Amino acid sequence: MLSVAFIGVGNRAGKYLSCLPADVKAAFLVDPDPVRLSQAAAKYGVPADACFSDAETFFSAPRNVDGVIITTPDRLHHEQAVAAIRAGYPVLLEKPAAASQEEFDDLLAESERTGVPVSVCLVMRYYPFARRIKEIVESGEIGRILSIDHTESIGPDRMGHTFVRGLWSRKDLSGPIFLSKCSHDVDFLLWLAGGRALDVSSEGGLTEFHAGHAPAGAAKRCLDCPLDCPYSAVKLYRDRRAWVAGFNVPEGRTLEEVIEEELQTGRYGRCVYHCDNDVNDLQDVQIRLDNGILLRMHLDGVSLEEGRRTVIQGTDGILRAQGPILEVNGRTEDFSAIMDLPLHAGADRLLIEDFIESLRTGRPTAAPLSTTREAHRICFLAR
Ligand SMILES: NC(=O)c1ccc[n+]([C@@H]2O[C@H](COP(=O)([O-])OP(=O)(O)OC[C@H]3O[C@@H](n4cnc5c(N)ncnc54)[C@H](O)[C@@H]3O)[C@@H](O)[C@H]2O)c1
Repeated sequence: MLSVAFIGVGNRAGKYLSCLPADVKAAFLVDPDPVRLSQAAAKYGVPADACFSDAETFFSAPRNVDGVIITTPDRLHHEQAVAAIRAGYPVLLEKPAAASQEEFDDLLAESERTGVPVSVCLVMRYYPFARRIKEIVESGEIGRILSIDHTESIGPDRMGHTFVRGLWSRKDLSGPIFLSKCSHDVDFLLWLAGGRALDVSSEGGLTEFHAGHAPAGAAKRCLDCPLDCPYSAVKLYRDRRAWVAGFNVPEGRTLEEVIEEELQTGRYGRCVYHCDNDVNDLQDVQIRLDNGILLRMHLDGVSLEEGRRTVIQGTDGILRAQGPILEVNGRTEDFSAIMDLPLHAGADRLLIEDFIESLRTGRPTAAPLSTTREAHRICFLAR
């Protein structure tokens, strides 16, 4: 039986733990949050002496594991992945792999020097809809790619929860949004187009979610607000119970109590126009590749729409993809049946299975660190 360790047992780890194959054991868990650590340990049967509140202690002694899965906040990835490599454990690392080009290159050099592989959780490479797009492009049906226009509309729920009120809302703490959100998108476009960026131009800013655009009469907290607002935390968390899976519910308390406390005093009860966020909510990035292809990307955090829209212009036709519909040269393919399946339409499970298979056989995964360098480089340049 293979064994893996999880560094960080929050939201992403929960997804990956839930799809570990039956013959793979979560042997060690590491997280400084005692509630998350004890709840994950109980759920997955990990004994107390295999649970650690800090990664340094875990890495300080040899552990009987075949691989390490790192799902911690972005700024910790480089240091923890380097520690895992030095201990000799193959790594599955959440995106972004590093917070700067220097960190990325250091990590890559360490992996290449030691021969210890690192793979990055770029789930779009496993996403059935994205894989079909790649298959069509590679079939030659639309000819040679000339340009790709791609829009990532984050949607009001995710934007408010994650990038305005939440843990990815501050450049100094979590980095620029183009790195934290669009590393998936840039990697996807390069995966289709190939090539290396000759020029990257980027314009963006925080255009909407600041006090200057607060509607008249908006209160500082949604509980006190008389307005009907698409960003209402009361509607999101109390009424729709969306995004509450990430709230810690310590033993002896209920989710309802935690939601009410969050609405009253927590970060997630704040009005989206009265937070301390500074990451962009709109950004346009244009990339000229050395193979002649032009990529135009639009990060949209302000529209009420959600989803990705991709238009690939080829010498022999056009492919338009806006989940769940893919349209190519006038014919359509409908992915409705799988689009809303849990775990990123099954992509998370495929990613974990790929990593586990790489541990068993030694073959590379679909997203080795070296193949993600150019996408990271573009994100660092665009900022
Ligand atoms: N691949 C994807 O589609 C995708 C989606 C969302 C998030 N992510 C990435 O996954 C990572 C985790 O995001 P999340 O949503 O699970 O966040 P999260 O906050 O739910 O989980 C992070 C966990 O790491 C723990 N942690 C903090 N410091 C630690 C330390 N020093 N050592 C060990 N654990 C520590 C936290 O207590 C928390 O439990 C981030 O890098 C994020 O960018 C990827």
